Formats: sequence, C-alpha cells, structure tokens
Amino acid sequence: MATRWETADQLKSPMEICWQFAYEFDSDKLKALYSKAKKYQWDAEADLDWDYPVDPSRPIVSEDVSGWLLRVPLVQSLSGSQQERLRAHFAAHQLSQFLHGEQGALMTAAALTHAVPDYQGKLYAATQTMDEARHVEVYARYIQKVAIIYPMSVKLKEVIDLTLTANHWVKIAIGMNMVVEGLALASFHNMLQATSCELLRKILQGVLRDESRHVAFGSLYVGDAIAAMHPDEREDVADFAFDVISLMREARGRNAPPDPGFLQVLDECAIDRGDFFRSVGELRGSGQRVELPRDQVHPFKHLMMPALVRVGAITERARARYREAGIPVWDDRSQLERFEREEQLDWMQ
Ligand SMILES: [Fe+2]
Ligand SMILES: [Fe+2]
Repeated sequence: MATRWETADQLKSPMEICWQFAYEFDSDKLKALYSKAKKYQWDAEADLDWDYPVDPSRPIVSEDVSGWLLRVPLVQSLSGSQQERLRAHFAAHQLSQFLHGEQGALMTAAALTHAVPDYQGKLYAATQTMDEARHVEVYARYIQKVAIIYPMSVKLKEVIDLTLTANHWVKIAIGMNMVVEGLALASFHNMLQATSCELLRKILQGVLRDESRHVAFGSLYVGDAIAAMHPDEREDVADFAFDVISLMREARGRNAPPDPGFLQVLDECAIDRGDFFRSVGELRGSGQRVELPRDQVHPFKHLMMPALVRVGAITERARARYREAGIPVWDDRSQLERFEREEQLDWMQ
C-alpha cells in the first residue's frame, strides 16, 4: 500500500514543549516503572501466533460482554444464528473502538514525551509511546482477521480530541492516563473474561499488562504536579477533569444519541433501527436494572473516579459540580490498585 499523506482529521495543539538538561532520576518509583517498561517490551509480530484461525462469522466472545444487549426483547426473539451474527458484529465494533482509542493513546503519549518537564518523565513517556504503537499494531492486525472495521465512536473522538488539544500536559495525563485508559482497562478486562479466542486472549493480556503501567504513571506523576500547582491552576485542571468525565458520562447515558457505528452494526445484522430502540425502551421500562455481569469492572466506579480523587484532580469546589451533575465521586481504590499490580500477569502462559 502506498504511504498515505492525506489525513483523516487535523487538530491544533496549544501546548508548550520543553527541554530539560538535568539528566537525573530522583524518583525511585518512576525509575522502577521505567525499568519495568523496558523489561516488559514485547514484539507483536514475533510473540503472537498470527496463524491462529479466526472465523469472522463466529462470535469471538462467549457471553454477553455488554451486560445488556442480549437482554433486549427483540434480540431475544432472534434465532440462534442471528444472535451470533449480532454478537460477532458487536464485538467487532468494540474492537474497532479499542483500535482507534489506541491511536489516540499513541498521540497523547508522544505529546507527554515532549511536554513533561523532567527527564525521567520524558523517558517513561517514550516507553508508553512505544507500548501504544504496539497496541495499535496488534488491534489493527487482529481486526483484519475479524474482517470488519467500524468507525470511531463520535464521543470517544470528542473526549480524545479534547485531551489532545489541552494546553497543559497534566490535562493530557488526566484525559488519557486516567479517564480514557480507565475505560480501556475496564473494557479490555471485561473482553478478556468473555473471549473464546486464544489469540485475542493473549493480545488482551499483553496489552493489559502495559496499560497497568500507564495508569500507575498517571497517579505517580500527576499527583505531585497537581500538589505543586497554584490553587487557580489546580481548579483549572479540576474543571478539565470534570469536562472530560461529563463528556464520557454523556456518551454512555441513556439519552445519548445512538452512535453511527452502532447503527451500522444493526444494519449489518438486518435489524430495524426503530424496532431495536423501541425494544431497548421496553427493557428499560420493565424496571429491570441492567447490571454488569459478575467479575466485570465498572470504569467510572472502579477506575476513573478513584484515580482522579487520588491525584487531587477533584477539589472541594469541583465536588459540588459533580454533585449538581449527579455524578458520584467514588473513591474506593482497591480495583485500581489491583490493576496497577497486574504487571505480574504471566503473559505467555
Ligand atoms: Fe494502549
Ligand atoms: Fe495505554
């Protein structure tokens, strides 16, 4: 294929780029994270069995990873093979979001590399940039096997664009390392629990191990930076965190307009859009609570909000904004800390 010089979209960044001539490591924790990042590099091409057969017409998840789709009455009335087709396309749609999101992560990690003020942060961010390049590579290659790629969700792009065009590296680390990667960690974990494909299982385990370092970096590095800020600057960062979280909540709220990519999933499966959403309304009207299956991770409750609280990105003033918006500020860190320890995952077993 010829090199593509034309772009899909372009943004302007107002961020400052900085040099640093003090070549010293003064944080043992960051040094340890950088060492781990170097030690656990893997090669997407050599370390995975790309000959593993993936049948694009069969679902790659063995159960309902969404927690709600198979409970929609219209979906329940479909034949077994129609349900399988829907599950296969729904999973392809989700994998496409993983792929596009990873490209966003690649660009934010590169932005951190040139914008973080100190040497150790720059070196660490460079490892994250390489990690994200590998993630783009593995998902792009896996999606070729699934044979269908869906467009990027409009809201996910909005969140990542807001992050990429932020004017301070702390905001980029909040938008990506805490919010988007919180969502990614939860989605990868939930997909890992549900997949029946051995190749995808290995991919997800490798990616999860890398992502756990990215989330750990966010909390290690950003906490100190926020603590050192002038109070006005801290409030500005807290407002940014609120904006990103609100956008993310909107995207997942029940009044959110359906995403064009998801509508395409319905079309591919010959499901009438109007009938489908009427049936979703019925499910909601029935008063049944749509709970995540057991062992699944809730991105806001278990990862994003506790991460933001921990680094001080939710100030007292911001708490009032969350209250007014009806967004709970969860601060139980146990799941988050479990993910951060997950680099011990025995990846190649
Ligand atoms: Fe990633
Ligand atoms: Fe990441």
